[in-house]
Amino acid sequence: MIKKINELLKEVEEFATDSFDEAEEFRIRLLSKKGQISLLFNDFKALPPEEKKLVGQQLNTLKESALNKVNEIKQRIEEQKQQTSGSDKYPDLTLPVDFAEAGSRHPISIVRNQINGIFEKIGFVISEGPEIENDWHNFSALNFAEDHPARDMQDTFFVEKNPDVALRTHTSSVQVRVMNNQKPPIRTISPGRVFRNEAISARAHCIFHQVEGLYIDKGVSFADLKHVLDHFAREFFGPETKIRLRPSYFPFTEPSAEVDVSCPFCKGKGCNICKGTGWVEIMGCGMVDPNVLENCNIDSTVYTGYAFGMGIERITMLKYMVNDLRLYFENDLRFLRQFSSAW
Ligand code: PHE
Repeated sequence: MIKKINELLKEVEEFATDSFDEAEEFRIRLLSKKGQISLLFNDFKALPPEEKKLVGQQLNTLKESALNKVNEIKQRIEEQKQQTSGSDKYPDLTLPVDFAEAGSRHPISIVRNQINGIFEKIGFVISEGPEIENDWHNFSALNFAEDHPARDMQDTFFVEKNPDVALRTHTSSVQVRVMNNQKPPIRTISPGRVFRNEAISARAHCIFHQVEGLYIDKGVSFADLKHVLDHFAREFFGPETKIRLRPSYFPFTEPSAEVDVSCPFCKGKGCNICKGTGWVEIMGCGMVDPNVLENCNIDSTVYTGYAFGMGIERITMLKYMVNDLRLYFENDLRFLRQFSSAW
């Protein structure tokens, strides 16, 4: 029996494995109810008392070392498993990265932010106002005659009639609010969405966006207006850009002008975009009509001012060569994905 114990002891000492299943098999073969060590304990009971002491000690040592060995191996395997597979706390840092797709701004927002930035840098403050306006802010204060065609149902979306409430047709309405609430000097730009009752086509839409500017102070002249427009054109379209002013008419400015820039595509040589003229129209402008200042309680004998207004869609078209206005409102991802900007 001692011999058998020593053989098993040797076997326990030499046993090594990296397999959890093999360790479990080993435990069952030696230590389970019908295992070799358990069987030795059965035999032990039949031994004469004088042998029992020595054999008993050896048998206990064997059982203990077998148990320890199995537990050690199982524990080591368990620890290794945790280290290699990673616990919940530490994800596998070697896995390939799953890039989140970055969105991009809408081209109208990109261009609006750029226009705002150019004017903010030279001291203009952004002002915003409601998209639903009353007749006074959108028309009357701006010197539109009672029978002016722009008030007609053709152009304006009315929300209510008598008294008239409508979707604003331009952001000049915001500037009326600024003039009503602030004392000159006023230097503000009003970006925003405007609405006109037009049939939707590649060249016209019933919703579009404007940035309008207003500067009122003592001694503001047409030369100041021309200078700021020249600055804007060169900042936005490039330093070689030229502007030209053509006489025009707006009820709220006198004199009034349309502003053209030298064609950003052909640099003034003449191409499809500028229809061979070398110039493209980008905005309207003029000196604020004294009637408008008086309507807003600003003394027109003391103060003068200039105003300008541009459509963001048109400027965006010139920047990105998008020639169908409808694309700006359809949210087609194939269109939107082409624009990326930090602005
Ligand atoms: N409000 C005009 C428009 O919507 C643009 C404009 C603004 C023209 C200021 C002149 C001066 O068309």
